[in-house]
Amino acid sequence: MAESSDPKVSVLFVCLGNICRSPMAEGVFRSLTKSNPRIGEVDSAGTGAYHTLDPPDYRTVTTLRKHGITDYEHGARQVHAGDFEEFDYIFAMDAYNFSDLQRLQRRAESKGKKTKAKVMMFGDFGGKSKGEEVIDPYYGADNGFEEVYQQVTRFSKNFLEEVINKDAQK
Ligand code: 4NP
Repeated sequence: MAESSDPKVSVLFVCLGNICRSPMAEGVFRSLTKSNPRIGEVDSAGTGAYHTLDPPDYRTVTTLRKHGITDYEHGARQVHAGDFEEFDYIFAMDAYNFSDLQRLQRRAESKGKKTKAKVMMFGDFGGKSKGEEVIDPYYGADNGFEEVYQQVTRFSKNFLEEVINKDAQK
């Protein structure tokens, strides 16, 4: 069992626009960890700034609601250098997000920032193959959002099981 004395872990979810996939991941993860004393700050961001301050896409909101998550609110924001100092884990939704994050982290380090973030594909916790991608549902059919929901739920549960709960048992 996680104890309140264990160190807290902070998590940032990242996609391109921060209106579809990463808010879905944040909403699901928040709901799964509401009373988990091991979880600190949880946020989401985009590698792009196209949608800054926009709310999540209505299809993300509808999908979360369908699964009983009705209290999630977010304004889109772009990833910034300070995120690599602040968050323990930064999870990319696809390979483009991942390489953009690696480049941003290298740039922050070259400017003397001490970055602690472990940048990973969220899909490394997919339980299938390493680096399972969450495909951008923005231009696709509505059921793409349900697929995103199912993936980020599976990844969140595996991350909690494999990292957070395991850690707490040490
Ligand atoms: P997301 O989806 O990265 O899952 O938030 C997108 C939303 C909007 C755009 C791209 C991706 N866009 O180019 O506007």
